[in-house]
Amino acid sequence: MVGFALQALSALLLTLSVAASPVRVKKRADPVPSFVLANAPLAHLYSKEQWWPSDISVHVQHVVPEVNFASVAPSVTLQNISSLGSDVFLTSKDDVTDQPDWITSVVGKPDADGLSSAPVTIVLVNKPGGILDAFFFYFYSYDHGGKVLGIEFGDHVGDWEHTMVRFTNGAPTAFYLSAHSGGSAYTFAATEKTNGRPTAYIGVGTHANYASSGQHCHDLPGDLLCDQTDAGPIWDPALNYRAFWFDNSTQTFTVAGGGGAAANEIRSEGASWLSFQGKWGDEQYDFLEHGQYCLELGSLEECRFSSGPTGPIAKNLGRTAVCQKEDGCTIATSL
Ligand SMILES: *[C@@H]1O[C@H](CO)[C@@H](O)[C@H](O)[C@H]1NC(C)=O
Ligand SMILES: *[C@@H]1O[C@H](CO)[C@@H](O)[C@H](O)[C@H]1NC(C)=O
Repeated sequence: MVGFALQALSALLLTLSVAASPVRVKKRADPVPSFVLANAPLAHLYSKEQWWPSDISVHVQHVVPEVNFASVAPSVTLQNISSLGSDVFLTSKDDVTDQPDWITSVVGKPDADGLSSAPVTIVLVNKPGGILDAFFFYFYSYDHGGKVLGIEFGDHVGDWEHTMVRFTNGAPTAFYLSAHSGGSAYTFAATEKTNGRPTAYIGVGTHANYASSGQHCHDLPGDLLCDQTDAGPIWDPALNYRAFWFDNSTQTFTVAGGGGAAANEIRSEGASWLSFQGKWGDEQYDFLEHGQYCLELGSLEECRFSSGPTGPIAKNLGRTAVCQKEDGCTIATSL
């Protein structure tokens, strides 16, 4: 009896496995390694920041996809944004010169524990030589540029910035911080530590990232254009994040999991939104539209409003060097 039952059972199992074989079992992706969260940067926003971190799931509710200033769909969601082309600009439904609530909202300002309601996007990339690059992407609905001789330049809707910690065989070895069209790289040992974690300082308005506090001038000679940073509210990405794996050979993203409130959101959102190649803000306005002006500054033409940025996929996630721009990437050994 027992023998017969076992035989029947194994026959049944065989039938089941044969029947199941054409169905591709979805492999559960690996979660974020604990060493990544233990070494996640702690970033100080500026004490008097006015354009705080934003949740991309909220941002997309306030934009329409446009090509050449004409809408191509009535709305977008994180689930269907990847169906849009690289020529698309996610364009504010509101006149940004009115600074609508979703742009000036303080809900993303981190609390005393470092918790922001705006999840950080973590992208993990395995590379040859035991390397794992952990990218921490910060999103803001608005970038308030800077003043040159009292004139405002470089504002745009949508702002993606990042830091990256490179791990070799699980140990942190280097730290990269994005700022404007470039960034800076340091050995992990050289970075300022807060509770043993690398520290970043985020410029007011532009949200450029720096490894040290104070004023950082860029792009123009004579300290004409400078970012201000200070030890304002700390933003701890480990408390609220959406995390993904990126496969550089196939250029595809898979969900690794979420932390904090984003752990629930990520289940319904999936990973496809990261494949969107378009811009996360308005296209640069024509002269006089929304008060647009442009001036020649040396060899550069600078405008009050520029175009919104591309997302994480366009930030050289497959880089071999630590820097986004790999040519001439130097890794500083002191701050
Ligand atoms: C995305 O989904 C929303 C809600 O279902 C829909 O209204 C919108 O047209 C879709 N957009 C695109 C680009 O498919
Ligand atoms: C990632 O892919 C790009 C494009 O195929 C390639 O040039 C680059 O070397 C890859 N990166 C790594 C770390 O293998």
